[in-house]
Amino acid sequence: MPILAPSILSANFARLESHAEEAIDAGAEWLHIDVMDGHFVPNITIGPLVVRALRPLADRTRTVLDVHLMIQNPEKYVERFADSGADIITVHVETCLDLSATIEQIRSAGAKPGVTLNPDTPLDTIEQVLDQIDLALIMSVNPGFGGQGYIPTSTQKIRELRALLDGIESRAHLEVDGGIKPMNVLEVVEAGADVIVAGSAVFGGHKDVSTNVEALKSAWSVTV
Ligand code: DX5
Ligand code: ZN
Repeated sequence: MPILAPSILSANFARLESHAEEAIDAGAEWLHIDVMDGHFVPNITIGPLVVRALRPLADRTRTVLDVHLMIQNPEKYVERFADSGADIITVHVETCLDLSATIEQIRSAGAKPGVTLNPDTPLDTIEQVLDQIDLALIMSVNPGFGGQGYIPTSTQKIRELRALLDGIESRAHLEVDGGIKPMNVLEVVEAGADVIVAGSAVFGGHKDVSTNVEALKSAWSVTV
């Protein structure tokens, strides 16, 4: 069964912990934490203090804190996010001068390293580090905001990444992030994703979180 990683970017920040706990109680195994600096992406969100604030909830519920760094010079902040309680730290290939070194830096800091790439960035930019990582994230929207539409060409990119990971017998997770809804999640899982990020599909709309989580899980259950 795929892992669900709700993105807290779409949560109600006036009651972040309780909103995140609703998703966990509904069956989410991870929390996806979107960090943005207003430079790599045209939005500013949160930093290590929010990871630290959510760490007690993560410990209490055995939830993985999956941190997605959409920032320039991520190597300057890896230790602070790891020390704040990040379990996984994912960096964009577009922001790393030495991707392999940053991956090792994340691992040395005590977190699991992930790598990700924008929709327009080709897979061959990360191919040489696939044997170094614990997670590869396919962005199916241009990073910066929740609530965007899934970019359909992402599905073929997921298939190609799955083939590359299987080809080296990698046990890395294949995570997909952006525009995932009940109507497209089956396609994404069948293409090879095993971790699903969903922000507005979980925390947005007019239904409660548990109904939203159930809708995603039943939509993908047909295939697994
Ligand atoms: C976008 C973020 C995504 C986003 C997902 O830059 O990386 O994680 O929050 O939100 P939805 O699921 O609403 O597209
Ligand atoms: Zn994200």
